This record gives sequence, structure tokens and C-alpha cells, in this order.
Amino acid sequence: MKRAMKKRGSLFSFEGIDGCGKTTQINGIREDLLALGYRVELFREPGGTCLGEELRRIVLLNNGIPICERAEVLLYVASRTQLVHEKVFPLLEKGVIVLLDRYADSSVAYQGFGRLLPVEEIIGLNDFAIEKRYPGKTFFIDISVEEAEKRLSSKEKDRLEGEKEEFFHRVRHGYLTLAERYPGRFVILDGQQDPELLRKRILQAVLAEIDSPEKKDQ
Ligand code: TYD
Repeated sequence: MKRAMKKRGSLFSFEGIDGCGKTTQINGIREDLLALGYRVELFREPGGTCLGEELRRIVLLNNGIPICERAEVLLYVASRTQLVHEKVFPLLEKGVIVLLDRYADSSVAYQGFGRLLPVEEIIGLNDFAIEKRYPGKTFFIDISVEEAEKRLSSKEKDRLEGEKEEFFHRVRHGYLTLAERYPGRFVILDGQQDPELLRKRILQAVLAEIDSPEKKDQ
């Protein structure tokens, strides 16, 4: 690892099935880091740029536009590559901590495992889109599909959230498979524990990664 890399900011992603509570956690961690004096930016996927927000509307609205499965992958990946090139990479160069509410692993878990598209090809698309710049740590907030369903039942569902339970079992299994494949990057967290405790654990892991002499943004 080159010494110069240490000056770079750090990248963290938050992943999980819909309803796992990651958005609450990521907002909490952002506040904690800001209170500690760090420069922090948070983006959600799909979205985070003008193009990304347009794509988000297209891909998530239940408006009846037919989107085939492979087009769906490409729309998410297009939003991602715009986000990293327009926002994330320049911020990392400036030493900012970037928190991502979903990133490359979402496409592998949802489109690869969930939709049963070829996983290795989706990983290849991600590698191309993000120039293989993976987060220092990916926090996978794990809850059971049954618990997620309970939490989401009162909410109006978007196009993906309206999928069958079986789909979310495959997505969850996808995340667990990715966590096994990339053990150095993935941190599996129990999403049913007390949210305050969860927040403390994540903050600890973020700070450990930032302070690590081996820190790198891939
Ligand atoms: P969002 O409302 O942000 O859901 P959440 O708060 O659970 O993140 O919608 C994002 C949806 O898009 C979510 O259902 C997961 C899905 N998604 C994919 O299927 N593939 C992807 O690559 C990404 C980034 C998201």
C-alpha cells in the first residue's frame, strides 16, 4: 500500500434487504462523524446526482413502464457510475468520508441473486462502473425476511418492495454469500438488536477503519 493513499477519504456502504433499518443507521453515523469533526457526505442509490435521481424515478416508480431484467441492472449501474465519477471519487480525493446507502453489492444481491441473473457478469459490470473501487467496509444489516415484511407492511411499496417473499430470501442469501466471499470488507450486523447499540458498533468499526494504517478505499 502506497503511503499517499493514506491521505484519501474513506468509503463505506450500507446494505440490506428493504426494511432492515439501514437508512436510520446511516443517518445516525453521519451525525456521529460530523459531531466528531469529520467531513462526511452521504448518498443514496439509485440517485445522488441529477441523472441518478431521474433514473431512480424510472426504475422505482410503479408506473407501468416495462423494464426488462437486464435493463434494470444497467439502469442501477448507470446511476452508480455517474455518482462515483461526479461526486464520490472527487470527494475521496479531498479526504472526505463518503457513506453510501446501497452500492455495488445491491445489484449483485437484488439483480444477480434476486432476479437470478448471472452474478459474475454483474460483478464485472460493477467493476467497470466503479473502476473496482470498493468500500473499506460494507455494513450488511441483516434481518429476517419475515421481520422485514412486518416493518414494511404499513408502507406503500415501490416496484422492488412489491416483489414476492421468495425474492427477498434470495436477496438475503445473496448478501450472505457476498459476505463470505469478501470477509475483509463485509461486516454482518444483527438488524434486530437495539438500534442504539447497532449504531455504536458501526461507529466503532468506521473509526477503526479510518484510523487503520492499512486503510485503503478498495
Ligand atoms: P429505496 O427506497 O432506497 O429502498 P431502501 O430504503 O430499502 O434502500 O429503494 C431502493 C430499491 O432499489 C431497493 O428495493 C433495492 C433496489 N436496488 C436494486 O434492486 N439494485 C440496486 O443496484 C440498487 C442500488 C437498489
